[in-house]
Amino acid sequence: MQKLKGGLSRFPIFLHNPSPPYFFDRILSVPKALAVAAGAVLLLAGRRRVIYNLNEITLRETKKMAQQLTRERASEIWHSYNSDEALWRHAQAVEGAMRRFAARYGEDVEKWGVVGLLHDVDYEKWPQEHCKKARELLAAEGVDEELIHAVMSHGWGICCDVEPVSLMEKVLFTVDELTGLINAVAIMRPSKSVMDLELKSVKKKYKDKRFAAGVDRSTIEKGCGLLGLPLDEVITETVAGMRECADAIGLGMHPAE
Ligand SMILES: [Fe+2]
Ligand SMILES: [Fe+2]
Repeated sequence: MQKLKGGLSRFPIFLHNPSPPYFFDRILSVPKALAVAAGAVLLLAGRRRVIYNLNEITLRETKKMAQQLTRERASEIWHSYNSDEALWRHAQAVEGAMRRFAARYGEDVEKWGVVGLLHDVDYEKWPQEHCKKARELLAAEGVDEELIHAVMSHGWGICCDVEPVSLMEKVLFTVDELTGLINAVAIMRPSKSVMDLELKSVKKKYKDKRFAAGVDRSTIEKGCGLLGLPLDEVITETVAGMRECADAIGLGMHPAE
């Protein structure tokens, strides 16, 4: 700034350059500097907070991935409490159906699959405590509460009072009994396979209450109601899921003798 005569340099605005920008540059320089400094501090703090949050999310996701129950581990858990081959085939049939529905709904196929695989984990050794004992076993194996709840809920109104709430749980509740019926229909056929099994064949046997009488049709229908899906569609999807694992469940076109 140019120095003026008479010591008026303190008020240059009125005598020299009355333009507002000049005035504000000079007069408000301290508050502005403070504001800029405060803004910088806030910005840095904000950035640090964002970075902190991102780190937290990354850490949580990493932990989640590490904790996610793999199929291999689920199989290991299942086999440490069971040895019955027919039950293992049933577990895999339900797994196949669960994977199919998970894909249909755009959900986590692996998670839904392991829930299907483990749903009867306590049945062979503790049939009288079915679904209830599963909580104890799975918790001891470090299985996530979400999965334990899902496993237990398949026995809703049958052997426990844990209600299926999530979509995954509703599907499990619906397909468990249905895979049993489909299996019974398939093995009656010349091919003994699900690969060429049609909806109308399943429906025909479904309506015959004497066929596979142990399969509770009302549970399947209750499940369809929970899902808001027609029975035909649920059967079609379940058969499709079982086809994906047909060889493993002994229902391929050339089952092992
Ligand atoms: Fe069960
Ligand atoms: Fe089951």
